[in-house]
Amino acid sequence: MNHHPTLVKNYGPPAFVAARGEGVYLYDDSGKQYLDFGSGIAVTSVGHSHPKWVAALQAQAATLTHCSNLYAIPQQQQLANRLVAQAGAGRLLFCNSGAESNDALIKLARLHGKNICGEEGKRFTVVAAQNAFHGRTFGGMAATPQEKIQGGFRPMLEGFKFGELNKIETFDNLVDDSVAAVFIESIQGEGGLFPADASFLQELRALCTERNALLMLDEVQCGIGRSGHFFAFEESGVKPDAIGMAKGLGGGVPIGAIWVSEPYAELFQPGSHGTTFGGSPLASAAANATLDIIEEENLIENVATNSPQWHAELQKLAEKYPELIAGIRGAGYMVGLALKPEGHNLKITAAAQEKGLLTVPAACNVIRLLPPLIATTQQLSKSVAILDEVFSEQIS
Ligand SMILES: Cc1ncc(COP(=O)(O)O)c(C=O)c1O
Repeated sequence: MNHHPTLVKNYGPPAFVAARGEGVYLYDDSGKQYLDFGSGIAVTSVGHSHPKWVAALQAQAATLTHCSNLYAIPQQQQLANRLVAQAGAGRLLFCNSGAESNDALIKLARLHGKNICGEEGKRFTVVAAQNAFHGRTFGGMAATPQEKIQGGFRPMLEGFKFGELNKIETFDNLVDDSVAAVFIESIQGEGGLFPADASFLQELRALCTERNALLMLDEVQCGIGRSGHFFAFEESGVKPDAIGMAKGLGGGVPIGAIWVSEPYAELFQPGSHGTTFGGSPLASAAANATLDIIEEENLIENVATNSPQWHAELQKLAEKYPELIAGIRGAGYMVGLALKPEGHNLKITAAAQEKGLLTVPAACNVIRLLPPLIATTQQLSKSVAILDEVFSEQIS
């Protein structure tokens, strides 16, 4: 398809016209059904148009959609309470996207640096990971050291250094007394599906505590149940100082958030940060409905229970097509197939789409499978069957 004449061409040409969604399925304007294992890039966590989610949005839209943060928003307070129950003692700040949540975390790091050395502009470096993706704002880009993200937009925001994921010595070398925070994704998504090892996260925790740097985790893509835990870092037992989230939180309505642990929760003071839309009654109601559905339908257990079998089926596929699949990585309903030869991920994404399966390409020649948390074992197996057909046609 061509670009629309009045839309900026910052995205590639669209694959098809998205017309309607229902549960795990997306439909195009010709009525063709797709098993949606992209979930709008890890967003539609409870599937498309879940009746309970739709009813909550309709009721909230009819009552109060927006009022700004000049006034108390009970739905936002309820959501904050629920996220504190998941993350631990602390406070929430709401925004509208993953990149905005990460910008807020970078601002938190600067406040922390000023607080501990008593002077602004002295201790503000953030150490992130080389293969990271943290979003497209100037803060997010600066924390994302990829030419395809930063190219054309320099100069970048200053104060970022990069270690290598899962190599603690590279962070050990970088975290000195100019560093305010370490900032990593618990599972790298866009970068090619690389999970942070539990032992690496534990070592980072110890390093940050020893050097008085915040440990900030980006759970924008891997959080809210996708890994088989509410937060992907839970597997490691580590307690971060701050967490960024978005995507799956609203189930399709834009909302982002940061959780800040109790000792740092007072760093933001009235006037230090804000947003007109963040945590609106409508967005908060959508997030509360999403969390209700996740709880009532035991969706995190669903992910944890169904994943091993699905991963095993994908592993078998990798063994069947060693010339096309280099490996399987990930956790829960966030899986990457590393492909061969180079550049094949776009070809396989298109071929799977043709056969009715939506996936999302990532860096390092990976295709990502990000089913909604409602996906059943049958639907997971169906994705493997479609991929089997796709790969078998590649070699015939
Ligand atoms: C880990 C991570 N952080 C941040 C972002 C940026 O989120 P958004 O596109 O909502 O700004 C993304 C988006 O893919 C992401 O995967």
